[in-house]
Amino acid sequence: MNNISIVILAAGKGSRMKSPKAKVLHNISGKPMLYHITKESLHVSDDVTIVVAHQKDAVIAEISKDFPDVTFVVQDDVNFPGTGGAMKNVTAKNEKVLVLNGDMPLITADALQGFLDTNADIVLSIFDLVDPSGYGRVKIENGEVSYIVEQKDASKDELCITHVNAGIYAFKKEILEKYIPKLSNANAQNEYYLTDVIKMAKDDGLLIKPLLVDEEHFKGVNSKIDLAASEVIMQNRIRNKWMAEGVIMNLPETIFIEEGVVFEGECIVENNCRITGKSLVKNSIIKSSSVVEDSVVIDSDIGPLAHIRPASHIEATHIGNFVEVKKSTLKGVKAGHLSYLGDAQIDEGTNIGAGTITCNYDGVKKYKTIIGKNVFVGSDTQLVAPVIIEDDVMIAAGTTVTSATVPKGSLVISRTKMKFLEGFYYKFFGKK
Ligand code: UD1
Ligand code: MG
Repeated sequence: MNNISIVILAAGKGSRMKSPKAKVLHNISGKPMLYHITKESLHVSDDVTIVVAHQKDAVIAEISKDFPDVTFVVQDDVNFPGTGGAMKNVTAKNEKVLVLNGDMPLITADALQGFLDTNADIVLSIFDLVDPSGYGRVKIENGEVSYIVEQKDASKDELCITHVNAGIYAFKKEILEKYIPKLSNANAQNEYYLTDVIKMAKDDGLLIKPLLVDEEHFKGVNSKIDLAASEVIMQNRIRNKWMAEGVIMNLPETIFIEEGVVFEGECIVENNCRITGKSLVKNSIIKSSSVVEDSVVIDSDIGPLAHIRPASHIEATHIGNFVEVKKSTLKGVKAGHLSYLGDAQIDEGTNIGAGTITCNYDGVKKYKTIIGKNVFVGSDTQLVAPVIIEDDVMIAAGTTVTSATVPKGSLVISRTKMKFLEGFYYKFFGKK
């Protein structure tokens, strides 16, 4: 890989998020911000270090489960708060070190390439914003960076600078070794700012180049407003990727697809759908306003207005409106209307009538419902689990099947006998 180390700063509190959860663990498209940036960093370098402090156990647990090869370093955020303080305990393996703020979930490996092919002592990402508020302002003179001033420390004139620090820097390792120990916290936030390295290096005559980047990849997330704006960009990317792979989407901007969802073959996703987790959708149609969570859908049509909850496997099956499926396997089944199918296994040729409920929970434990092939389940059936319905069974509408095995080929019916009381209506209401 490249002769470069990457350091991701993820130790901050993120107080502007106004959340008990660490900022870098807030989700974009179903994964923590820090997951996205770590994933892209590992495409660029195999020496990736993440600096942690605030909620460090949660951050380490969340990230190391997907990326076991990442190194974690703990910041002494009490004595050395700030992005410069975060760098104090870091030792990079390579001569060039890319430092990334951990609140930049939109960064891509491609966008990091621009930092790698230059001989400047420091390369620093900047963009121009009409409204630069919140960002550090970058003073550029004769095409070179002179210094960065944080918003809270900036003078009136400096606040008008529209070049902002995007939050990614390439340093020669010796520059960090030299200047990080010299940082001071004499500023508005009493923090050790990594950005102060720039001025010290400039004063020593080093070459600091700005790299103009786009907000689309380098946007920082400090608040829930930024989080929502970044989600829009990430969703666009995810949808465009799948449409390019052949998925048809109706009104794509109304569809939410998480990172980790996979489509195969030709699929159609109608408007207002949400597909999450590690779902696989293959040769299927997900109709309007349906939700598919962490499930497999193959050769099937789902919805409109259906809810496929986690751990379901649906194959060659028709799921209609107002059907909820949870942790169930359906193969070659029709469940057209208004049903709850939970902890169930349902086999080929079986028809589930409207209003069928698997009563899977007794208030303490969950139980399974197993339904064989070619079963006809009449409308408004309750299946009180655990229950096994063998092949070729007919269940009459309105039946409650209680814990039992219903033998192959039988009819099961549980209804009170119907009776007519002739003339009752008129006796009760009188004649009109
Ligand atoms: C920082 C930059 C600012 C830039 C902006 C871009 C500094 C001083 N300012 O400001 O110039 O325009 O990013 O988005 O660097 N962190 C730690 N330890 C800490 C504090 C922060 O690891 O003690 C981490 C945070 O977890 C975060 C990153 O550093 O991932 C940036 O911190 P944040 O507080 O968001 O800095 P900004 O105010 O956005
Ligand atoms: Mg920030």
